[in-house]
Amino acid sequence: MYQALIISFMSKIYLDNAATTRLDEAVLEAMLPYLTDNFGNPSSIHAHGRQVRNAIEKARKTVAGLINASPSEIFFTSGGTEADNTAIHGSIHSLGLTHAITSRTEHHAVLHTLEDLAKNEKIKLSYVQLDEKGHIDLDDLATLLQSNPKSLVSLMHGNNEIGNLSNLYEIAKISKKYGAIFHSDTVQTMGHYPHDMQATGVDFIVGAAHKFHGPKGVGFLYINSENKIPPFIHGGSQERNMRGGTENVYGIIGLAKALEIAYQDMNKHRLHIEALKLRMIEGLKNSIPGVEFNGDSANLDTSLYTVLNVSLPPSDDNEMLLFNLDIKGISCSGGSACTSGTEVGSHVLAALGVDNKRGNVRFSFGKYNTAEEIDSVVGALKQLY
Ligand SMILES: Cc1ncc(COP(=O)(O)O)c(C=O)c1O
Repeated sequence: MYQALIISFMSKIYLDNAATTRLDEAVLEAMLPYLTDNFGNPSSIHAHGRQVRNAIEKARKTVAGLINASPSEIFFTSGGTEADNTAIHGSIHSLGLTHAITSRTEHHAVLHTLEDLAKNEKIKLSYVQLDEKGHIDLDDLATLLQSNPKSLVSLMHGNNEIGNLSNLYEIAKISKKYGAIFHSDTVQTMGHYPHDMQATGVDFIVGAAHKFHGPKGVGFLYINSENKIPPFIHGGSQERNMRGGTENVYGIIGLAKALEIAYQDMNKHRLHIEALKLRMIEGLKNSIPGVEFNGDSANLDTSLYTVLNVSLPPSDDNEMLLFNLDIKGISCSGGSACTSGTEVGSHVLAALGVDNKRGNVRFSFGKYNTAEEIDSVVGALKQLY
């Protein structure tokens, strides 16, 4: 019975890799000793503790090396949300910033944090203009910075819903020109695109292990050594006094291993996943008249190769679209644009003015997906339209 359940689960198609990814078995193997034999508290000074402390510091060195940063610039967190919150709160509170600039298509980890600070009158908040595809208007960013010195710029690298990529180098250059601090939510690009902190000029970036085949509940924050911010979680002296609390040891070990694998195999995975995305775009165009793509997600050069946001023609069944796909064994996400404060939907699609009558679905791909799976999903959608 249990075996049958596992087999039926495995035959399901998982195209929701922007939400989370399957743990790589090599990552699990690296973590297991820290769930069993190597159980010491890294703050303990005896041999059990020292052994685990060394492993954490080795993991920090690995992460730093991969993104060309210094180990002293890497702080482990509980994930992307905590890292974003730490960067935003820390920079606003300690770097004398009174104004922040963001966009309406950011993840809620950024938007809700900044909106809360604005509501409590800690900052003034401005939203940079977007074009009809959701791309940031860099001239508007410069204009906003001109009239608001002492700003925090918080703009993501890859959008988790529509896949749009922003140019970190350009935004960092503009931010520097006006003396602003630049934080970028890089959760969707970490482990999928190379990051070079010496070259990019970003003040804060973040990562979440579960987006690149690592464990859930662990991430990291990179803080450029020129920026000093206060602790976000008060307590013990862990993470060099920045984040009190006994470390998520096996999570940290898993994160470093997952990022190592991601960097090792980045080009191979990119080619594989990009081909799947292209196959889906072509397959849908050939089988569903009137299919469109939200944001810039159909443009392979300017969007995440892992994300495709599909806009299907209006239909009476569109409200049931995700449900119908789930029934067919296909896991993906999306939903309608939210049009009022009470309706739960996508604030990103709403910001783009996407038509709610169309069926909007986000498919997101990973290294374990296959061409056969893409063909099955295209076939399933064809049956529905
Ligand atoms: C762009 C982006 N930022 C932040 C987060 C939050 O990360 P976590 O779930 O690790 O807190 C996510 C996760 O969906 C994301 O896609």
